[in-house]
Amino acid sequence: MSKTLTEEIKNEVERRRTFAIISHPDAGKTTLTEKLLLFGGAIREAGTVKARKASKHATSDWMAIEKQRGISVTSSVMQFDYLGHRVNILDTPGHQDFSEDTYRTLTAADSAVMLIDVAKGVEAQTIKLFQVCRKRGIPIFTFINKLDREGRSPFELMEELEQVLGIRSVPMNWPIGMGRDLCGVYDRMNNQVELFQGNDHSTIEVRKVEDYNDPIIREMAGEFLHDQLTGELELLDVAGDPFDFEKVSRGELTPVFFGSAVNNFGVQTFLENFLKLAPSPAPRNSTEGRVEPTEEKFTGYIFKIQANMNPAHRDRIAFLRICSGRFERGMAVKHVRVGKEIKLSQPQQFLAQDRDIVESAYPGDIIGLFDPGIFRIGDSLSQGGEVIFDELPTFSPEIFAKVTVKNALKHKQYQKGIDQLTEEGTIQVFHSTSGFDETILGVVGQLQFEVFEYRMKGEYGVDIQLHRMPYQFARWIVDEKIDPSKFRINSTLVQDKKGNYVALFENEYAMRTAMDKNPTSKFLETAP
Ligand code: G4P
Repeated sequence: MSKTLTEEIKNEVERRRTFAIISHPDAGKTTLTEKLLLFGGAIREAGTVKARKASKHATSDWMAIEKQRGISVTSSVMQFDYLGHRVNILDTPGHQDFSEDTYRTLTAADSAVMLIDVAKGVEAQTIKLFQVCRKRGIPIFTFINKLDREGRSPFELMEELEQVLGIRSVPMNWPIGMGRDLCGVYDRMNNQVELFQGNDHSTIEVRKVEDYNDPIIREMAGEFLHDQLTGELELLDVAGDPFDFEKVSRGELTPVFFGSAVNNFGVQTFLENFLKLAPSPAPRNSTEGRVEPTEEKFTGYIFKIQANMNPAHRDRIAFLRICSGRFERGMAVKHVRVGKEIKLSQPQQFLAQDRDIVESAYPGDIIGLFDPGIFRIGDSLSQGGEVIFDELPTFSPEIFAKVTVKNALKHKQYQKGIDQLTEEGTIQVFHSTSGFDETILGVVGQLQFEVFEYRMKGEYGVDIQLHRMPYQFARWIVDEKIDPSKFRINSTLVQDKKGNYVALFENEYAMRTAMDKNPTSKFLETAP
């Protein structure tokens, strides 16, 4: 074994940080991402990411853009270097672009940054994304944004994190005032204050202090705010959780940072602390046991496939997360599921909206592979050997529709389209157990239906009709003896493509009732 390659991989792994930002729309994810990219020198002007976001605001626009550009602009991985680290930010689309892909992307991250609006607290989409991260046990860092606006008290927000998400928190810094009175933050770990200066809060001054009782803070923030700060921090010192790196690493404790992304306030210190505390690429479980990122043998898995919406260019991009070894352009690897060698000759790395050909890459990096239709979500690629990484979870759909084909003569193409698109992970398909041959589609986000309809027409020449159904929850039912008649009130029992039983419910009440009535059944959020 060549020592130098091992050393090289080890160094590259150690300096890498691959994470996703999870938040509810409007919390400031685009703004924060942009500030991080500016620090890393990956973009030169503010507004670059914003413009990209604005241009894909409506779904119809998104389709048009996809068509013009040939291939996806909506999903990207942004990479930059900062203080010796190589940072990969995985984009998790929100708004209308929210889909099962958003969840799958989280499986490729080693940590998450949870962004919360100080006035709104924990919101619906944050909860969903948090739960996916929670299940994986990855570290979660919290940034409470928009401190320049009047918001909820920091204690109230910490309590909400615990009540709603079930995670304890440890504030790394603490606001001195808020909204119009915002003066700065006190950095609890480094004993320093960061102060907003000037009317527009545009200058930031950092002062080292003894502790939070230091008269310097009183001088700068005034008596009232300083008294408030000392009172709150005394309480926190006594009643709050101490910082515990192990708990943070297991995702049981979230370090909390306060700031204002749009004012670039608290962003740099957040980034620096995050880089120090966040993990480098973790080992992955496979059929051959744990695969360590530092192994020389290249391995990776596909977590997302982005289809080209332009019928003239049927190419697709498969997103691969590198798990071990060194990737080199042109290298031959085994496509384990099909048992064939393939050559990775035109890999793409993503940086904001540009796509660059990548020559080499390391664990934690994401590369885009041109896919002529050979990949499926969850496929493993490996240099020699038969490594198969653990299957990606199937996420519980929340929107359902019955699908019918307009022209009965197209039934064969219709079937082919459904088979291929479900395999690709575009939608989930279920079959009714009622005796009627009904096909029901389930998705996490509305956009998935639109993409499905579009592709069925474009690629398979089939016009379909979707009839929305009233269900909102799906649970995989595990029971030796299932009685479909117990799933009739505001619910229905269907089967997934593997024949597993899945109950669909119109509301939470119906789901709870079914759980009470079927105490011997297990109700699972993901396929068994
Ligand atoms: P998103 O990607 O999470 O959806 O959020 P985005 O960054 O687009 O931010 C949503 C809105 O919140 C934007 O305002 C943005 O300027 C604002 N914002 C982000 N960070 C802060 C902050 O620290 N303080 C305050 N007060 N506002 C913040 P907008 O009016 O929707 O857009 P724009 O016209 O300002 O661009």
